[in-house]
Amino acid sequence: MAEKNGEVQEIKHQEVGHKSLLQSDALYQYILETSVYPREPESMKELREVTAKHPWNLMTTSADEGQFLNMLLKLINAKNTMEIGVYTGYSLLATALAIPEDGKILAMDINRENYEIGLPIIEKAGVSHKIDFREGPALPLLDQLLEDVSFIFIQP
Ligand SMILES: C[S@@+](CC[C@H](N)C(=O)[O-])C[C@H]1O[C@@H](n2cnc3c(N)ncnc32)[C@H](O)[C@@H]1O
Repeated sequence: MAEKNGEVQEIKHQEVGHKSLLQSDALYQYILETSVYPREPESMKELREVTAKHPWNLMTTSADEGQFLNMLLKLINAKNTMEIGVYTGYSLLATALAIPEDGKILAMDINRENYEIGLPIIEKAGVSHKIDFREGPALPLLDQLLEDVSFIFIQP
């Protein structure tokens, strides 16, 4: 969904195509309508629709990507996660819904205002207790977090 001339319209694949591997707009739209949107939790739908009215809405994670993220997190039994770049919180909500009740997300963004657009929906979904939002650039915070760490293994 996106707002154009005061009307809310569906975002078409052409507008989010840079985020998709699919080359066909019609196929992507078909997948969204027949497979992705019917499986989207109500809270995610609400956040997607609110985000669509925001002028920077192209920054948001797409609905298919949100469901992929949610599935991936469940597959690896993720509990403690980090998110760099929250915007209005679509991927944050996908994560918060996937991790267990005592899971935690350290969420960082330089812009709190956009996070606060989605926050009431995240609260209503009953998952805001999992989120530790920090406003500011992520790098200094990551440096701070790494101060007490003596070994990191990254498997690319
Ligand atoms: C593409 S958006 C993130 C989309 C989000 N994951 C979602 O699902 O809607 C990128 C975000 O990164 C944030 N950002 C940019 N530079 C940053 C930095 N140095 N540290 C933390 N966040 C940053 C921006 O404010 C913006 O909200």
